[in-house]
Amino acid sequence: MRILNASGCLDALAAPEVARQLDAFVTKTVTPLPREGNAPPRIAETAHGMLNAIGLANPGRERFVADHLPRLRELGIPLWVSVGGFCAEDYAVTCSLLAGIEAIELNLSCPNVDEAADSAAEIVAACRRASELPLYAKLSAAHPDIAEVAQAVAAAGADGLSLINTLRAVAFDRQLRPALARGSGGLSGPALKPVALHAVRACHTETVLPIVGMGGIQTGRDALEFAACGARDIALGTVLFADPGAPSRVRVELASACEDAGVAKPEDAASLAKTPETGRKVPA
Ligand SMILES: Cc1cc2nc3c(=O)[nH]c(=O)nc-3n(C[C@H](O)[C@H](O)[C@H](O)COP(=O)(O)O)c2cc1C
Repeated sequence: MRILNASGCLDALAAPEVARQLDAFVTKTVTPLPREGNAPPRIAETAHGMLNAIGLANPGRERFVADHLPRLRELGIPLWVSVGGFCAEDYAVTCSLLAGIEAIELNLSCPNVDEAADSAAEIVAACRRASELPLYAKLSAAHPDIAEVAQAVAAAGADGLSLINTLRAVAFDRQLRPALARGSGGLSGPALKPVALHAVRACHTETVLPIVGMGGIQTGRDALEFAACGARDIALGTVLFADPGAPSRVRVELASACEDAGVAKPEDAASLAKTPETGRKVPA
């Protein structure tokens, strides 16, 4: 099981010592044009997680490729670039500019931008034509049947799934004004974990794609639960803001969580959590 960061939750150039604990670094989502993101406040705490409405603040693809990517390469860590946009063409053009990285993650699920996107499968198909790099489709659990979307992106040529993105949510300040200037934002952190586990399990049952599981992972035990649902790898997001040492800590805890659960390695946990509800198959 590899440990990655969740997109947007770590700036590897600002904190290379955190990035070096990871098996691969995933960038903040890159869009065609530079974006300043939404007006502040764009982060708020809730009882069991956080809300963000960053709004895909990023330098845009030209500056990313010319300036950020070469500096990221110098870190010597396998790189995944998260790609975003507002139509299939946006995504495909960015994908065609990317080389010398391990994988592309297609952000098909940002809750913090207003523009309607083309369908997930259309976007994946366009990117498949534009790039031979492994394509991971990052999906949202807001869809009523995430496994159906997973099957559609698999048929369109995705090589893997990243599950899940934040869920749209709202929080209020003392005067009952929305805590975020935008009104709503994306909920992340522990509140998301049970939703994410279900999404991973459903997609693992309905596709053979490798899955990077994320959503509220804080401990090695959490990571093992994602493995039990069929995740091959996991990503750490919100936890990194509170604990920059989380990747190393989770790796150590994962070994003892396996021991507690009586499995030799995380991959062996997948068969334990199988129930009649999910139990169609366990791909190798
Ligand atoms: C501050 C912040 C910024 C984020 N930015 C992005 C982003 O640019 N692209 C993306 O695909 N997901 C983004 N996410 C979602 C995370 O990658 C992840 O899917 C989500 O937070 C669930 O994981 P967690 O509960 O461990 O944080 C962001 C999350 C947070 C908290």
